[in-house]
Amino acid sequence: MADGRLLWALARDNGLDENSPYAYVMWCRDFAATSVVARDAEGTPRGFVIGHVRPDAPDTYFLWQVAVDSACRGRRLARRMLDYIGDRIAERGLTHLEATVTPDNAASRALFGSFARDRGAEPVWTPLFEREHFPQDGGHTHEPEDLVRIGPLGQLAAAEALWDSAELAAEADRLRQSAVSGRN
Ligand SMILES: CC(C)(COP(=O)(O)OP(=O)(O)OC[C@H]1O[C@@H](n2cnc3c(N)ncnc32)[C@H](O)[C@@H]1OP(=O)(O)O)[C@@H](O)C(=O)NCCC(=O)NCCS
Repeated sequence: MADGRLLWALARDNGLDENSPYAYVMWCRDFAATSVVARDAEGTPRGFVIGHVRPDAPDTYFLWQVAVDSACRGRRLARRMLDYIGDRIAERGLTHLEATVTPDNAASRALFGSFARDRGAEPVWTPLFEREHFPQDGGHTHEPEDLVRIGPLGQLAAAEALWDSAELAAEADRLRQSAVSGRN
């Protein structure tokens, strides 16, 4: 639960919807088993994936949010977190992963396309949440969100799949250090 406020700040600072701090604290209590955090050597989260198994579709994992600290992007950290989640949910017998993405989020679309490609699955995109589903009052608008459904989830090649939390932490730290020093 201690991670909740840190994930909230990471989400806020990386352009995700500003959900309440409560949502992240609750998520870290109730959905830790279906989420992953990549930390640096000081224990600071540099990336996260949070999601849940859909109660009405128990073969499907819904990825609610993925974020990587801007200093650590482009180094496959998001892919490695998705791979970690993909392997865990496949072990539990789930067959599909879903997420929603706004039409203009090229990085996120590429991320899910990359994940699907390497699992031998076709990403199927359909409109899901339209503008009208979100509050329109007070000048507030929300972009529509397209659903991507990926499956059936094959296993990655063994060498690529062997990421555990410790390795993610080490990778995040390496990335942070290289970002700070300007080296790659
Ligand atoms: C989306 C996000 C998580 C990607 O994180 P990342 O660690 O930089 O991504 P990776 O390095 O793992 O890249 C994974 C794939 O996406 C592609 N990709 C990543 N960023 C990209 C960009 N800006 N434009 C095009 N493709 C991109 C990579 O090339 C790679 O594809 P490949 O396997 O075909 O080479 C990150 O940009 C982010 O945190 N964005 C802000 C939050 C957000 O929009 N989250 C998604 C909505 S819930």
